[in-house]
Amino acid sequence: MSGWRAMAKARHVAIIMDGNGRWAKKRHLPRAVGHQRGVEAVRTVVRAAREMGLEALTLYAFSTENWRRPEDEISALMGLLKRYIISDIDEFVANNVRLKVIGDYTALPADVVTLIDDALARTAGNTGTWLVIALNYGAQDEIARAATRAAAKGPITPATIEAELDTAELPPLDLLIRTSGEVRLSNFLLWQAAYAEMWFTEVLWPDFKPEHLLEALDAFAKRERRYGGR
Ligand code: IPE
Ligand code: IPE
Ligand code: MG
Repeated sequence: MSGWRAMAKARHVAIIMDGNGRWAKKRHLPRAVGHQRGVEAVRTVVRAAREMGLEALTLYAFSTENWRRPEDEISALMGLLKRYIISDIDEFVANNVRLKVIGDYTALPADVVTLIDDALARTAGNTGTWLVIALNYGAQDEIARAATRAAAKGPITPATIEAELDTAELPPLDLLIRTSGEVRLSNFLLWQAAYAEMWFTEVLWPDFKPEHLLEALDAFAKRERRYGGR
């Protein structure tokens, strides 16, 4: 290939939103306040992603391992999730945002499940940016569920598994961001990350701004993706 390369535009960005607890601790505030400020960051970043014309934004909100946290923290997180959906659903509807949940969200408290089902139904006809929320999501669980469904239909191949993943209808993952300085995947999108570009920042999630998303997208545009070729 010649030196010419188009500035690549990311279609699908995923974020491991980490550091709410440390943000609160630094300020001698309860962890719940960190999660609350985390929701504010979600709201701003979702708006920015929509305005930037991203095709899909996937946010890691609650992992299959987060059930290991104390009960009061889990219920605070569920309460915040409920309030976020209730307050922002009209905005999603008005702005053509398509909501999607990955992970087995049916294991969440019944009132949360009902709220999610209603929100999914209300945005099902939308055609704009996908807002994908990972809830009770673990990539190992996702792959196991996908493999089970693939096996029931015929031979298992990478393609038949991929077709059964929770993300099957989304564009391929281009860019995976993790905040708070941790450099690990924590069971997030293990399959989809095979050839995704990674971007890590020390910024704690409540401090994450649209300018950080832009910084990550800029870095992405300068990367050369080879997919094993040359
Ligand atoms: C991320 O912040 C939010 C969730 C995992 C739900 P944390 O709560 O993990 O914050 P730290 O990692 O303890 O700072
Ligand atoms: C990953 O963060 C999960 C979410 C952001 C929802 P964690 O804080 O749970 O990850 P670990 O435990 O540090 O790996
Ligand atoms: Mg964490």
